[in-house]
Amino acid sequence: MRVEGLLEAPEASALAAEAVEATTLTNAYSDLLSHTPVAGAETNSLFATLGGRVLPKVVEFGEVLFGEALNWQIKEIWVNVLEPGGRQAIHTHANSFISGVIYLTPAHPSANLVFHKALGGTGFIFGNTNPNARINAFNGGKWAMPQTNAGDLVMFPSHLLHEVPVNQGARRISIAFNAIPDRLDNFGYAIRFS
Ligand SMILES: [Fe+2]
Repeated sequence: MRVEGLLEAPEASALAAEAVEATTLTNAYSDLLSHTPVAGAETNSLFATLGGRVLPKVVEFGEVLFGEALNWQIKEIWVNVLEPGGRQAIHTHANSFISGVIYLTPAHPSANLVFHKALGGTGFIFGNTNPNARINAFNGGKWAMPQTNAGDLVMFPSHLLHEVPVNQGARRISIAFNAIPDRLDNFGYAIRFS
């Protein structure tokens, strides 16, 4: 789900300045990518503000995923600062159902999120990629985000593989989060999360 302009541009740039101050950790795969420690949404005013802004949208996206308006919480939230030349390796987010990114600066097209269906398994794969085949959202193996701007929110199911290719633009600042519902109920087989 894309929510364009969740934050106004001046708000996004004020939060970007606050976010950069807070980053202390270098990514394990790229020293041009740094983070804050993963924290709860109540940890500081930056995270509390953003958590409050995104939560109604998380509930809306959760209804798309699970067919019901559930009680969601932001379980983890952190800052990513991607310098020119930095990248983020392909990964998923475990123990979470909805993951999201709030952009505090525009993302250069080279460093837009790329989602992958799968990287393979133990079976052979059939494909039909050739000059006559038209790639669409259903038959493509991967999908790159359209242009994102400061203040935009992007959410996706946490199991979805994603990466950020090498950033050929300016410093890119974003806030990522993981969210969980309080319960899921499958024909009475219910599980609660906290
Ligand atoms: Fe991620």
